[in-house]
Amino acid sequence: MAKKAQVTWGGRFSSAPADLMLRFSESVSFDSRLAPFDIQGSKAHSAMLAHVGLITKKERDAIHTGLDAILVEIEAGKFVWETRLEDVHMNIEQALTKRCPAAAKLHTARSRNDQVATDMRLYFKAACSDIFVQLDAAQRAILSVAEAHADVLIPGYTHLQRAQPVYLAHHLLAYLEMLQRDAERIVLVADHANWCPLGSGAIAGTTLPIDREFTAKTLGFVDAKGKPRVTQNSMDAVSDRDLFIEFASACALIGVHLSRMAEDMILWASQEFKFVELPDAFCTGSSLMPQKKNPDSMELIRGKSARLQGNLHTLLVLAKGLPLTYNRDLQEDNPPVFDSHDQTALCLAVLAGTISGMEVHRVRCAAAVADPALLATDLADYLVRAGVPFREAHHAVGAVVKLAEESLLPINQLPYDEVKRVHPAIKPDWVESFDLAKAMARRTGTGMPGPAQVKRQLARWNKLLG
Ligand code: ARG
Repeated sequence: MAKKAQVTWGGRFSSAPADLMLRFSESVSFDSRLAPFDIQGSKAHSAMLAHVGLITKKERDAIHTGLDAILVEIEAGKFVWETRLEDVHMNIEQALTKRCPAAAKLHTARSRNDQVATDMRLYFKAACSDIFVQLDAAQRAILSVAEAHADVLIPGYTHLQRAQPVYLAHHLLAYLEMLQRDAERIVLVADHANWCPLGSGAIAGTTLPIDREFTAKTLGFVDAKGKPRVTQNSMDAVSDRDLFIEFASACALIGVHLSRMAEDMILWASQEFKFVELPDAFCTGSSLMPQKKNPDSMELIRGKSARLQGNLHTLLVLAKGLPLTYNRDLQEDNPPVFDSHDQTALCLAVLAGTISGMEVHRVRCAAAVADPALLATDLADYLVRAGVPFREAHHAVGAVVKLAEESLLPINQLPYDEVKRVHPAIKPDWVESFDLAKAMARRTGTGMPGPAQVKRQLARWNKLLG
């Protein structure tokens, strides 16, 4: 049986939506999160309406008082969200209507389309600054571990095979570079969010004499000089979801970075490496095997990074092929964005917590890096310094490596008499190439893992992070 249409848009309807349709189409279960931004937007909008004379100052004040009271209720968890009212916008408007007659004028020259676009832009600014703060905290945590173990050397790996020695700090500072690029991306997303779509209406603006610049200014959508930034095409403004994709993309890339760090930690914490001991507080045990200590925090970061990529993909597919302008499909854009925000923030905090509590097994690191084969390239450089072309030097050192393997000796313990037969440029001082401290000190160029460079980088990061 047809129910009486009582919804906001019910004028042209003779029956209310089916309960199933209500359950299917509601978004308030997730977009209630936008309430503070929705209220901020409505206050600015009603201030503008009063400014241009579309409502009185008294009506504006009544609307503001009502919205403030509603926000207090929401924040106290006392507000009753009704699924029947579909979304955050209509829930708040209805609650306001119960408080003051002026509420009926709030939606003048506004549509939920430009309203939600505005809410989301305000949300993105806040979300970006939240992620920025978390990135910064994670960077600081990594930096302090790097500083606390500034003298520890480990093998660096390519193809997960021991390659060349590096300072542990140099390895950790690589993560800071990744997170720094992430922070720069997030700042860019926040800047892209900084345009006010309010006034675009449902699709084609309004015939009423609104002042878009006033609203933009009130909401802080301004450039560095304080000039209002308003979107320039009403159709684009209500259907543009680039920001959602940009934000999810920035989060997905943070996830990629965090999962790579997580993978390093998982390897380093294994019995096979044992470079580090992860804190108990971020590990779990086995219900069966009493000896187990599992790096779950790092594994979950690795796992959640898949989810972040999934969210990005959801948004890309959602927007693809949609005709202009607003389509209800777009309501599905909220959950992946909120999820990316929450999970990215959590992952960053967990990474910071795990790394901060990590212990470094200096003895194990020293044993691993003592492998003289790690400095085979330095022997080739020794030959280059003696005038040997690099390809020839590489070949000669390869032969020395083979000799060592065959005689089951560490490369630097091969007798000189045998080694010198490989190449005439190999002199008795050849073995100094395997002096780890000297080898590290030779790496003096910018970005290299020499001790002076690493020190300089630590100082740079200290300055950068303040
Ligand atoms: N909850 C809706 C969304 O997020 C608000 C916009 C509704 N607009 C509409 N034309 N039905 O997409």
